[in-house]
Amino acid sequence: MPTPMVAALCSPWRIGRVEIPTRLVLAPMAGVSVQAFRRQGRRYGAGLVCSEMVSCAGLHHGNERTLGYLRIARDEHPLAVQIFGSEPTVMAEAARMVEAAGADLVDINFGCPVRKVTKTGAGATLLDEPERASRIVAAVAEAVEVPVTVKMRRGLENGSRTCLEVGPRLVEAGAAGLTLHPRSARQMYTGTADHRLTAELVERVEVPVIASGDITCAHEARAVLDATGCAAVMVGRAAQGNPWALRAVLGEEDAEPTREEVAAELVLFMRETVRELGERRASGFLKKFYSWYLGAGRFPRAFRQEIVRLSSVEEVEQRVLAAAPDAHGLLETLERDLPRAGEVTLELPISAYGGG
Ligand SMILES: Cc1cc2nc3c(=O)[nH]c(=O)nc-3n(C[C@H](O)[C@H](O)[C@H](O)COP(=O)(O)O)c2cc1C
Repeated sequence: MPTPMVAALCSPWRIGRVEIPTRLVLAPMAGVSVQAFRRQGRRYGAGLVCSEMVSCAGLHHGNERTLGYLRIARDEHPLAVQIFGSEPTVMAEAARMVEAAGADLVDINFGCPVRKVTKTGAGATLLDEPERASRIVAAVAEAVEVPVTVKMRRGLENGSRTCLEVGPRLVEAGAAGLTLHPRSARQMYTGTADHRLTAELVERVEVPVIASGDITCAHEARAVLDATGCAAVMVGRAAQGNPWALRAVLGEEDAEPTREEVAAELVLFMRETVRELGERRASGFLKKFYSWYLGAGRFPRAFRQEIVRLSSVEEVEQRVLAAAPDAHGLLETLERDLPRAGEVTLELPISAYGGG
């Protein structure tokens, strides 16, 4: 029986006028959050899914690959597209493109700790430039009708409490929601997320706060909701190659998937990703997913090693299905229940972006 808090996880909430069916949000992850990942996340109970961070400069210059990130399927909604950059006017222009592509929310990245991004004045560095950060939020909020949210880290340095100062200023500038990953940028992904800061942030702002960091099961999700009063929890790494973790966080199912279920979801994911990225890009992109799906004791190590060495996606599909023959039926059911490609609105033509 679900406990009362788990029931709350399954209850709807809002960011501005956008209704979100559950309090579980699938994290934006660069190199991971493709359309197939987001659609799968929605099927497994995420109430809101997010694109990976999209470069405003790339959108501004009409970079084809960047524009490809704006392809949104009908069954992803509600969906946030996340943008990063450092110039308010360029960010505002990018936000308009994101809105035109059909996103329900524009999310701004003030959390990326990676040097390639921070050295351009974007991502987490903006936490140390509250004036500019506020101008960015104000410009973006002014540019679009959809709600604008911000995702941030606790600050740049270990022990920093900058997010507690900056967060309320961003809300004043127009942010309709905040996500906090309470690690410092310096920490990258080491140590632990300190959700005591999330609780303090919740106290300081009137908008919904999403808690991100180290949430992998229903117990942790409940603990963070209880302890912080946040509106929703976000799950990232735990869902890599593991959509079942999302159901488990919602308290719906805790069982490990069978080999057949794993094989069927993986093959579906592969087919969808090839459709989205094209065979050449997909074959490199998918390699990390093979380890994620087939690891965790689900398939023998030797089998995983063999799979990652195969050169074509088609060969991988054949080997995976041969190793779990009963997956065929499950795969057929999954494909039958998905909206067919023709029913999915790709807001931008595939041909123009080489994704098909
Ligand atoms: C591979 C990877 C890529 C990420 N990319 C982004 C990103 O593009 N934008 C962002 O706001 N956060 C990004 N994050 C951070 C996650 O959204 C999340 O805040 C963080 O992983 C902590 O949550 P978790 O413990 O549930 O993974 C990324 C994390 C990982 C592991």
